[in-house]
Amino acid sequence: MTLDNSTRLANEETRRAWDANASFWDAKMGEGNDFASLLCWPALRSLLDPQPGRRILDIACGNGLFARRLAELGAEVTAFDFSAELVKLAQGRTSPPLHVTYHVLDTADESALLALGERDFDSSFCNMALFDMADIEPLFRALPKLLKPGGTFVFTLTHPAFNNATAMHVVEEVDDEGEIKTVYSIKVSRYMTASQSRGLAIRGQPEPQLYFDRPLQYYLNLGFQAGFVLDGFEERSCPPGHPQGSPIGWGGKFSEIPPVLAARMRLMD
Ligand SMILES: C[S@@+](CC[C@H](N)C(=O)[O-])C[C@H]1O[C@@H](n2cnc3c(N)ncnc32)[C@H](O)[C@@H]1O
Repeated sequence: MTLDNSTRLANEETRRAWDANASFWDAKMGEGNDFASLLCWPALRSLLDPQPGRRILDIACGNGLFARRLAELGAEVTAFDFSAELVKLAQGRTSPPLHVTYHVLDTADESALLALGERDFDSSFCNMALFDMADIEPLFRALPKLLKPGGTFVFTLTHPAFNNATAMHVVEEVDDEGEIKTVYSIKVSRYMTASQSRGLAIRGQPEPQLYFDRPLQYYLNLGFQAGFVLDGFEERSCPPGHPQGSPIGWGGKFSEIPPVLAARMRLMD
């Protein structure tokens, strides 16, 4: 790996935090919480279009919940994460007849990525993890070599326009022509400038982790430079009336603001 010193330190801190939070994360996520099942999975499934026998690579698989869902649909799934603790938990949750091949692997390590198999995968995906990675450039360099011609890379993000370290969930009241209305909104004061900060993926987790905020153009341009085109895109929010996990957390009250973005990039032949 050829990371500069501050990126290397950030990467190491990130891995330590995910190892420390692994059991907590696994217990909370199980085989999919509301966020995963309602907001991420429908987009992943439609953009990946898994078919029996297709070779799919799950990048930063966490406890492997999406790898298992895809394997249940008949896909041949290889999944990896750099947290050895999470990979152990993922393996513990995967029993025959279900089969997923797991590895402990860091996306910053381009040659380890290539050792997964050049031109071996029909598609790849990374659910809610690119913003957890200190450096995503080695991954974008490796993907065109890992995928078959015309192969796809699907990624989901917490929508960067509405989620970053400056994003505040706001609730206000307004007297609208004699009707008192409650208005839910997001206030963001920085978007364009990439930055890193510590935060919580799930309330109550043992240790905060690093987040790497980047504007959407950064992700897309890395894909374009690597030879991909954008050929699928979804923004997803909870339907109105969907229960709130917390009083002003993502839920039906924020149905007009999408917490999740999903994109599919396809290798040009
Ligand atoms: C928010 S979790 C998402 C996990 C899983 N994709 C899911 O949707 O449940 C982010 C994951 O990224 C992994 N991660 C962060 N940086 C990584 C890196 N450089 N290489 C591999 N995995 C990484 C973490 O260990 C963690 O499992």
